[in-house]
Formats: sequence, structure tokens, C-alpha cells
Amino acid sequence: MKQIHVRSERSYNVSIDTKWSLELEKIAREHTKILVIAPASMKANLDLAGYEVFYTPDGEDQKTLGTVDEIWNHLGEIQLGRKDAIVGIGGGATTDLAGFVAATWLRGVTWYAIPTTLAAMVDASVGGKTGINTGAGKNLVGAFYSPAAVLIDLSFLETLSDRDYAAGLAEVIKTGIIADISILDLLESSKDISAVRSHSAELISKSIQVKAKVVSEDFTEGKLREILNFGHTLGHAIEKLSDYQLRHGEAVSIGTIYALYLSEELCGLDPATTARVLALFVKFSLPTSYPDLGWSSILELMQGDKKARDSQLRFIGISSLATPVWLESVPTEIAAKSYERIRL
Ligand SMILES: NC(=O)c1ccc[n+]([C@@H]2O[C@H](COP(=O)([O-])OP(=O)(O)OC[C@H]3O[C@@H](n4cnc5c(N)ncnc54)[C@H](O)[C@@H]3O)[C@@H](O)[C@H]2O)c1
Repeated sequence: MKQIHVRSERSYNVSIDTKWSLELEKIAREHTKILVIAPASMKANLDLAGYEVFYTPDGEDQKTLGTVDEIWNHLGEIQLGRKDAIVGIGGGATTDLAGFVAATWLRGVTWYAIPTTLAAMVDASVGGKTGINTGAGKNLVGAFYSPAAVLIDLSFLETLSDRDYAAGLAEVIKTGIIADISILDLLESSKDISAVRSHSAELISKSIQVKAKVVSEDFTEGKLREILNFGHTLGHAIEKLSDYQLRHGEAVSIGTIYALYLSEELCGLDPATTARVLALFVKFSLPTSYPDLGWSSILELMQGDKKARDSQLRFIGISSLATPVWLESVPTEIAAKSYERIRL
């Protein structure tokens, strides 16, 4: 088992290659009471007999205030107290939700993340960002609230569809672009998704090391942590406008290509780098363009993004691989021009 340490408002370990059922037993022994939060769609994959479980709707449908309210009521019924704990088992939507519930119940109770998708293992469960979606936008309501531990059982990946595995790879590729070129080399040397799957442990470890380092330096996103949002400004906008029909990673894949086009315009990025990344997305059947969703709606959502200041467009770009650049007050004409290149 490999452990990666994260320093934030509390310190904790991300353990890779655990047995989730044994870890859950251990957590249950350490607390008088625990509530497991997991998606109903995962019931067949999880033997949770004997545990108090709240089953959620699938995917983004669970990241709503309505679900949070139902769980709060459930926590009231079972009288979950300050010394008790919440365990989120599922993809990134579930760990975001479970963490947010833990942050808000009794002003904060202990929580553990057991991620079951690649996206949740490499990204969502690590770093302490928790939250839900609202009418105003994606992830606009939430809390920085770290888990007590992240416990990764690689066997969950065996049942993950190629579509969901690839969606997780979009975040892995993003990490390669902003900080660790060896990730891109490893993906380029693998023929297809099946070949990449045999490198899961290494890719997860490399990606988490980057995230742990960034988050440990800048937990509440003063500046450095913003690099992790590469590809997410446009990504979040089209994810919302597609009514969450796109996986988060698929939207990030399109957003990443957009951020590379912007980088060509604004920081002299060599188009050969964009072509290199584009080839990877194509290899893993990730989308790199999207039917027109209406530039004005996209622009409005991007201006309301968490990173925007006074409605000025801000993005993370790169001048070359592993060299992030903060793109401040990006002119709308340039943002629109790059959008033309990803519009189907
Ligand atoms: N907090 C953060 O820092 C952060 C970072 C990245 C992404 N996110 C969030 O994570 C979410 C995306 O994560 P995701 O792609 O894991 O989404 P998800 O949780 O919606 O899971 C995707 C699908 O995979 C299924 N699934 C989960 N585990 C499975 C398994 N082992 N086998 C088969 N099917 C399985 C789920 O039921 C769901 O249908 C988004 O809401 C995004 O905003 C958060």
C-alpha cells in the first residue's frame, strides 16, 4: 500500500491499494456511529449489510440541496453526533456530496472518502473541496473541508465503464499538462484504454502527488491551487448547459482543448503541444468539440465562474507543458475566437 500525505486545515493520508471493506470495518470500530453515503446504482457492487446507509440518486442528480436536506433529516433521525462519522463511497459526485454534508452537519463532523471512480480517486476525493450544484451554477455552494482519510481500493476500477474511466483520464491528462509531463509520456506509450488500465496505480499515484503538493501549499485557493482548474472554466459552463448529460471529465476534456487554444493566442503556446494533447483525447474517445450551446450563455456562465473577478474573464493557460500562466482580464473577442475552434 502506498500513502501520500496531504497538509491542509488538518493533515491526512491518501492510501492507495486498500481493501475498502476492511477499512470500513476499522472506521466503524473507531466511532460509535457512522452513516455511509453511496449511490443506489452501486448497491450491487457494495456489501453494506449491517451498516446504516443513505442511498443517493446517481451522478450529478445527487449533488442537490434536496438530497442534502434529506440526508440532514436522516442524520437527525439517527442522532449522529459530533464524535460520529460520515463515509462517502462512490464517484466524485458522491464524495463531493458526503463531504459537504459532513462540513455542515453539527458545523462539521469527521468524514472519510472511499472513491470508486478514477475521477474521484485522482481528483475529487483529494484536496478537501466539497459541494453541490445549484441553479446559479456548478459547485458554487460548498466548503473547504478535508476528510480524515482517503482510502483507494483499485478493484473498484474493474467495474468502471470505459466511458467513466476515460472521463477520469481527462483529469489525469490535465495534471500531466500543468505539472507532470511523465504522465503524458505514459499515456502516449499505451495503445488504448485497456492498456492504460494496467498502469492505473502509477497514474493515480502520480496525479495525487501533484494535487497533494499544490493543495498542501494553497488549501483555500489563494492563487497556486487555481492551476488545478485548467480547462474547468469552459468545462463547468458546458457541463451545466448540457444539463449534466456530459460527464464532468468529458466537459473538462473540451475545456482543456479550449484552454490550449487560448494559450496559443495569449502566451505563445506551440500548436504542436495542443496537437499532442488532442491526439490523447481522441485516443481515449474523449470529446474535444461540442455542438454550439450559444456563446452568450457560455460567456455569462464563465463570467460568473469562481475564478472571475468583477466579471472579468480569467483562465489558467500554459506557455509550455508544465508551465502554467494566469490569464487575467482576457478580452471577450479572444475568448470568442477560441470558442469558434471547439464549436461543432
Ligand atoms: N472536489 C473536487 O475537487 C472535484 C474534483 C474533480 C471532480 N469533482 C466532481 O466529481 C464529479 C465527477 O466525478 P465522477 O466522474 O466520479 O462522477 P460520478 O460520481 O457521477 O460517477 C460517474 C458514474 O460512475 C458510476 N460509478 C461509480 N463508481 C463505479 C464503479 N466502481 N463501477 C461502475 N460504475 C461506477 C456512478 O454511479 C456514476 O454513474 C463531478 O461532480 C465533479 O464536479 C470534484
